[in-house]
Amino acid sequence: MSENFIDIRNISRHFGTVKAVDDVSFSIKQGEFFSLLGPSGCGKTTLLRLLAGFESANQGEIFIDGVDVTTMPPNLRPTNMVFQNYAIFPHINVKKNIEFGMRKEKLSKQELENRVQEVLSLVKLEGYEERFSNQLSGGQRQRIALARALIKRPKVLLLDEPLGALDKKLRDEMQIELRNLQKAVGITFVFVTHDQSESISMSDRVAVMNEGQIQQISDPHDLYYNPQNIFVSDFIGTTNFLSSSTGSSNGENIMVKIDQIGEFSIKNKLNIPENDNETVVSIRPEAIVLSPSPIDKGDIVMEGTIENSSYYGELTSFYVRVQGAENPLIASSQRFDNNSFEGNKCYLSINFEDINLLKKE
Ligand SMILES: Nc1ncnc2c1ncn2[C@@H]1O[C@H](COP(=O)(O)OP(=O)(O)OP(=O)(O)O)[C@@H](O)[C@H]1O
Ligand SMILES: [Mg+2]
Repeated sequence: MSENFIDIRNISRHFGTVKAVDDVSFSIKQGEFFSLLGPSGCGKTTLLRLLAGFESANQGEIFIDGVDVTTMPPNLRPTNMVFQNYAIFPHINVKKNIEFGMRKEKLSKQELENRVQEVLSLVKLEGYEERFSNQLSGGQRQRIALARALIKRPKVLLLDEPLGALDKKLRDEMQIELRNLQKAVGITFVFVTHDQSESISMSDRVAVMNEGQIQQISDPHDLYYNPQNIFVSDFIGTTNFLSSSTGSSNGENIMVKIDQIGEFSIKNKLNIPENDNETVVSIRPEAIVLSPSPIDKGDIVMEGTIENSSYYGELTSFYVRVQGAENPLIASSQRFDNNSFEGNKCYLSINFEDINLLKKE
């Protein structure tokens, strides 16, 4: 497996004063399911269009499978793109829609027929050849769009929010199908989304973007548990931020004074300097253990009062005030019985390993 199958080197695309993509460098492995994740306007589509060749770079180079494609037109690149608003032609049937991109390839009738059947089977729509767009559901239309892109057997499939128009349930199903399909065909997928849970559940690796720049590239687990900065920590999931300051360090550990909580020695994964007043700690809601009776396990044990709670079915979020605190802490629990808290008094515990020390921005 090639580590630098797609190699993006110092790529920029500016529109006037807007730095849509700003000096970005990274690589994507062959066969990888790679996501570009970030808020609206951060440059995801622009970066995808640069890979496809629909956009030209102001600076930098792009290599795909060892070939410099920086100035190569889209039709000569080994890429194909699937858009959010999957344009299935309404006046021709599914079969003709799928064959559409193949008209310039000189395949025999039989070969073409075999390829159509192959991709229809991949997207599980065998027997739908004669249907028209208005006879298909949203999910089926999207699968036809995928089939149309896959029939060309691209080395790289570029997908710009392909599930964006689907409702939640169908979207969840299509996420699994798309992931299975990617594994089956082994094509490198570059998948754009602004939905963090979607990118985490589907990808081998995720690049988090903000304002034209890459903030972090990690596998989903690392992205969630080891965010490199406040932006990533905040964008992925929910978290508690507490102001803090560092003291002296001791090997891998550093003394951290956390406002509202106390002073502790914790791991300094990001090499934050000593005696720094401009730091924060991030603690995930599910890392805070909540109990109606005193807790004796845990590195930090506190008392608190429950101010509020929100029930989300599989999870309940509690807003807990600890003494002297400016803001309540959010703690989440599964299958939690709200009524077990008498007079709203509760006990919390946190382990040092669940505290991430970050630099203030
Ligand atoms: N052709 C263009 N002319 C001028 N500005 C552009 C052009 N295309 C994109 N931009 C700007 O570049 C920035 C990045 O746009 P882009 O479409 O890449 O964002 P995005 O991350 O895909 O956002 P979304 O999630 O909303 O689709 C935005 O500020 C956008 O307004
Ligand atoms: Mg976009």
